Amino acid sequence: MIYLDNAATSFPKPSMVAKAMAGTLNKIGGNPGRAGHSLSLCGGRVIQRCRELLAQAFGAPAPEQVIFTSGCTEALNLAIRGMLCQGDEVIVSHAEHNAVMRPLHLLERNGQIRVRVLEPNSLGVITRESVCAAITPRTALCILCHASNVTGVVQPVKELSPVLRASGIPLLVDAAQTAGVLPVSLQELGADMIAMPGHKGLLGPHGTGVLVLGRGMLPRPIVTGGTGSQSESLDQPVQLPDRYESGTPNLPGIAGLLTGARFALAHRDEIQAYEDGLAQRLRAGLNRMRGVRVLGHPGTPKVGVVSFIPAAMDPGELADALADAGYALRAGLHCAPAVHRWLGTLHTGACRASMGIYNTEDDVDGLLDAMEKILSRR
Ligand code: ALA
Repeated sequence: MIYLDNAATSFPKPSMVAKAMAGTLNKIGGNPGRAGHSLSLCGGRVIQRCRELLAQAFGAPAPEQVIFTSGCTEALNLAIRGMLCQGDEVIVSHAEHNAVMRPLHLLERNGQIRVRVLEPNSLGVITRESVCAAITPRTALCILCHASNVTGVVQPVKELSPVLRASGIPLLVDAAQTAGVLPVSLQELGADMIAMPGHKGLLGPHGTGVLVLGRGMLPRPIVTGGTGSQSESLDQPVQLPDRYESGTPNLPGIAGLLTGARFALAHRDEIQAYEDGLAQRLRAGLNRMRGVRVLGHPGTPKVGVVSFIPAAMDPGELADALADAGYALRAGLHCAPAVHRWLGTLHTGACRASMGIYNTEDDVDGLLDAMEKILSRR
């Protein structure tokens, strides 16, 4: 099977990721931060090394401001549910994933907040003007998806963030498709918080994610419990990261993330160029095919995510036929209905191929050939 679903999770991982994970299970084994014996301390050191690596890469003021979560969804939930209060307004882009929209919708339906969705320009890009127009005295948070998991279009977050900064509005960036691929840091983007998965561009395992907190960002915890610290008190510790990290940490996952992220961050520019080259090759091939619509305006910067809709066939049916031919793609709405609404593709969804570091030009050419064959039978 040729795997082209790296926007969902990167696969395969560099072989040393599984090795690092197995090492924690086979050799370390203790519960980090819960005891003074060497097996607990050793696990704690693995976690601290990962925190330090990510703090440096993503510009956190201190390693403790890197919070480990079960994925990007939990990181976004922590920031959203932990920051917003009764009566607040939130600005979001049209490209947000349901990991953002569902927690917001729940709060809005309960009458707690109001959500304002930004209209992009004709290229699908959010402008400073639309951000300015959405700001009110009640705006308490802006959330921007750095790159769409449907179109791959990258939003100019760096150009938008000064407007928010000037109004004192914190910016939360969803870097689900960009962490480990594009330059992403609090400083680079002008962000106050960045949520990211550990298992996509950072090449770590499933069940890992991170919320990077900028200076002064102190959301209320959404999970409380044992931290191995201040156990005499029933109050959740206030110090980071214990404020947010209750329960036994995912040591194998974080060990895998440390190894994957080290590799991804050391080669980030090459990875970006490589995946971009493959995606461009695919877009060019699809554009040459009759009756195939490629989503995302050609004039916008993108990551290696390519969604398309054949005129002659349901995208889900095409994905199934491609799977039978040995190509793993994703079809549907990709949990991001608003961008489909904007594109007019809510009723069809789209077929999506997303590039990873182990894909090759042959994979792309083979996919195009397979598609030609499937569509020619129609
Ligand atoms: N959000 C992931 C995707 O786009 C799972 O497929």
